[in-house]
Amino acid sequence: MLRIRDLRAGYGATPILFGVSLEVQEGEAVALLGKNGMGKTTLMKTAMGFIKPTGGAIEFEGEDLTRLTPHEIARRGVGFVPENRRIFPGLTVRENLDLGLSALSHRTTALRRERFEGVFQHFPRLRERIDQPAKTLSGGEQQMLAIARVMMAGARLILMDEPTQGLAPALIRHIRDMVRELVRLRVTVLLVEQNARVALSVCDRGYIMEKGAIVFQGTSAELRDSPVTREKLGV
Ligand SMILES: Nc1ncnc2c1ncn2[C@@H]1O[C@H](COP(=O)(O)OP(=O)(O)O)[C@@H](O)[C@H]1O
Ligand SMILES: [Mg+2]
Repeated sequence: MLRIRDLRAGYGATPILFGVSLEVQEGEAVALLGKNGMGKTTLMKTAMGFIKPTGGAIEFEGEDLTRLTPHEIARRGVGFVPENRRIFPGLTVRENLDLGLSALSHRTTALRRERFEGVFQHFPRLRERIDQPAKTLSGGEQQMLAIARVMMAGARLILMDEPTQGLAPALIRHIRDMVRELVRLRVTVLLVEQNARVALSVCDRGYIMEKGAIVFQGTSAELRDSPVTREKLGV
């Protein structure tokens, strides 16, 4: 579904990604692990079109994404849940969800209703808080809202950047269940996590990134058992 090959990208003249290759098949949940500052967020931003690569290829369902804008990429069915849950704090839950829908070119009242119902089914808490400003939600609820927003856009592949960052253990379990639920709904997930234990408990397999390159990959069981994981992640 997503195929990244020999990807090179950076900020200005500073290279950060030095030839990253990875693949995500439809229906999979794949973890992208690595210590802070290794280039995981940069990879996601590049895949979403926020950073133009200096080399390599990014294909989604066979289509080259590198010449598309972030908006066009979202319209193809790729959702991005950024670090620190970039929701709009002053807007209500409803307004935040409507922004997710705005990625679509053909919005009908029926589609809007259907998407809202779908989101409420998975996140009943959001229905209860529909007219509250997003900033009044708890950290876990804000994360729910960020995920619900990409579901409003009908994302079939979700790139999720450290969704458990800064959350208490009970909420981390909740986020883990949400990712499992997405997979059950046949949404494909690429999950960036500092918390390798959480990521490997929901993902089929994973990659370890170090200094802008993939240095190890394997099934979740292989990653869990490998001394390389401990060495590269310090866990
Ligand atoms: N906007 C930016 N401008 C310049 N350098 C950046 C920017 N964002 C991140 N970097 C640098 O790129 C490297 C990789 O960062 P990042 O992709 O955020 O890593 P990770 O997500 O793995 O923690 C780091 O050295 C970081 O300082
Ligand atoms: Mg990051």
